[in-house]
Amino acid sequence: MRPARNVRGSVTLPGDKSISHRYAMLAALADGASRLENYSTGADCASTLGCLRSLGVKWKKKEEAENVIEMQGSGMSLTAPNASLDCGNSGSTIRMLSGILSAQNFACELSGDESLSRRPMERVITPLAAMGARITSQNGRPPLCVHGAHLKGIHYGMPVASAQVKTCVLFAGLLAEGETSVHEPVRTRDHGEMALRAFGATLNRKGNEIGIRGGQRLHGITARIPGDISSAAFFFCAAALFPESQLTITNLLMNPTRARLLDILVQFGLRISVSQIEEAHGELIGTVKVQGGCLKGGALAGADSAALIDEIPVLAAIAPSTERGIEVRDAKELRVKESDRIAAIARNLRAMGAEVEEREDGLKIPGGQKLHGAEVDSFSDHRIAMAFSVAALRAEGDSLIRGSECAAVSYPAFFTALDELVEH
Ligand code: S3P
Repeated sequence: MRPARNVRGSVTLPGDKSISHRYAMLAALADGASRLENYSTGADCASTLGCLRSLGVKWKKKEEAENVIEMQGSGMSLTAPNASLDCGNSGSTIRMLSGILSAQNFACELSGDESLSRRPMERVITPLAAMGARITSQNGRPPLCVHGAHLKGIHYGMPVASAQVKTCVLFAGLLAEGETSVHEPVRTRDHGEMALRAFGATLNRKGNEIGIRGGQRLHGITARIPGDISSAAFFFCAAALFPESQLTITNLLMNPTRARLLDILVQFGLRISVSQIEEAHGELIGTVKVQGGCLKGGALAGADSAALIDEIPVLAAIAPSTERGIEVRDAKELRVKESDRIAAIARNLRAMGAEVEEREDGLKIPGGQKLHGAEVDSFSDHRIAMAFSVAALRAEGDSLIRGSECAAVSYPAFFTALDELVEH
């Protein structure tokens, strides 16, 4: 990565990863066909499609450039796979699919790569076992063996704020007998409930509790998946580094449970305008224009840390270049993502010459620090690879990001797109 002078241009992003997983899984269960346009190009969402194919679901990819998936719904009846389901690097695939598999009349194994094999799964095993499924694991980690059963609805209070867990329990609830409800400690992204509604289910929300009645049928849909705002975060933060930047992102997901990043960047001093807001299947989509400025920085804590969990790596990576720095608290979930993201951020920022205070649940990164180009590691984590390629734009001298190809987990064309926006 070479340092840059400016970020300028316009970009449209591949479909949102969270929505792509959910639409694919529900299209697989629905009656009739679905057409999913602008499906995520990331390897994670390909893992979901691969698992669905092993479960007997028929789908094909149309018009390569547009990433259109046409899927024939199974009408709720999946078939037993003849090998372990490979979830790759994808926590969303293994956790959300476990909810669906818990209600099938067969047992199957779900496994993944080295990183996924280290990630905690009790958070889904506990509620699914309470509903009647039997799930074995390696001390709470993958591979999981899910023995499907006749599930009974439960009321579940989630101890950790996790949209993957909420979605897993709601998917199981759709296939269970009676009523299932999930209470979340803070509001997490609501794509699971929105997707269930899009495919025809009825859900009830009361404050932080969301309920679903089992036994409802789903129907196929045609949908165009909005651009991934967590991928856009890298470009927003790259633009934030230079006072003269001008960046436009079209067709971007603007769901309020995901767009907190924009409020925070405005609070930190960036000039942002949003236009052409539209709605599709409950999801808001818009065009976002960002003008560079002088980033002040600030603190992230509580519900903000949960809402920005995927964007914290890149916010932390630009923190040294802000005026006052950035402090992140209440984000210990970062330690159990694709890598220990708190440790990875601290290691890489220090390698680039920055002062960083690493804490159990976050980081304190002073502002007004100059970075120097360095060799840093992706820790095989897509968001770390992309975050540090953004930090490198503002460093003195070139940087090398080892294992940067892992960006393909969520955004294979990231480096090409960044290259087109950056002026040296
Ligand atoms: C996701 C939820 C978040 C997020 C992940 C995608 C989802 O994980 O980090 O990238 O699609 O529901 P948690 O549920 O573990 O917070």
